[in-house]
Amino acid sequence: MHAEVLSVYEAIRRRRDVRAEFTGEIVDDSTLWRILDAAHRAPSVGNSQPWDFVIVREPATLRRFAEHVARQRIAFRDALPPERTATFGPIKIEGIRESGTGIVVCYDDSRGGPQVLGRATMPETGIYSAVLAIQNLWLAATTEGIGVGWVSFYDPEFLAELVDLPEGIRTVAWLCVGPVHEFQRVPDLERFGWRAGRPLTDAIHHETYRG
Ligand SMILES: Cc1cc2nc3c(=O)[nH]c(=O)nc-3n(C[C@H](O)[C@H](O)[C@H](O)COP(=O)(O)O)c2cc1C
Repeated sequence: MHAEVLSVYEAIRRRRDVRAEFTGEIVDDSTLWRILDAAHRAPSVGNSQPWDFVIVREPATLRRFAEHVARQRIAFRDALPPERTATFGPIKIEGIRESGTGIVVCYDDSRGGPQVLGRATMPETGIYSAVLAIQNLWLAATTEGIGVGWVSFYDPEFLAELVDLPEGIRTVAWLCVGPVHEFQRVPDLERFGWRAGRPLTDAIHHETYRG
């Protein structure tokens, strides 16, 4: 097993959204299995496990998706005010072909039947569960030296058709997954001046939101 033994805190610190650092090698199947096993151990509302993972490696499919995302990137760029266009210019928003493996994380709202324990008043807890699977996957991948890049610049209908989703199944994310030569220390959006993180002290409130 290639995985470095990292404390969970170290894995959280080292994790990055990866776009430009993929080596071009393909993640091997046993590593990919461990990463997906970590995802599948995530907590889920009512133990519904509403996720599915579609692994995409066919070059023609990766190319079609990359071309679609490139069009969405242009649409986003063209809608920006001029000062943001310049900042956005050098920012890479995906590594679809370079990573060599896409994982389409899907969500099935009907999984778990009509009475999902805990979802009655908060339907969105189903999607939260799928996102927790992604976070498990992301941290496990980090400990394996495997990068993950989340791509959301796509039309959900296009991706549903591309991977032939049955009626009622939605996509949550396209994840670019592959070996990396390094993890950046600072998030790309901060390095390129798009948006820096905020301090933890700003996110903590006492007793009430205004507190
Ligand atoms: C729901 C979600 C959607 C995202 N979509 C994209 C995307 O389409 N393209 C991209 O380059 N990064 C995307 N990201 C990555 C974020 O930009 C990144 O997580 C953030 O800038 C912080 O950087 P870090 O993950 O390296 O700490 C997405 C992240 C999340 C959680």
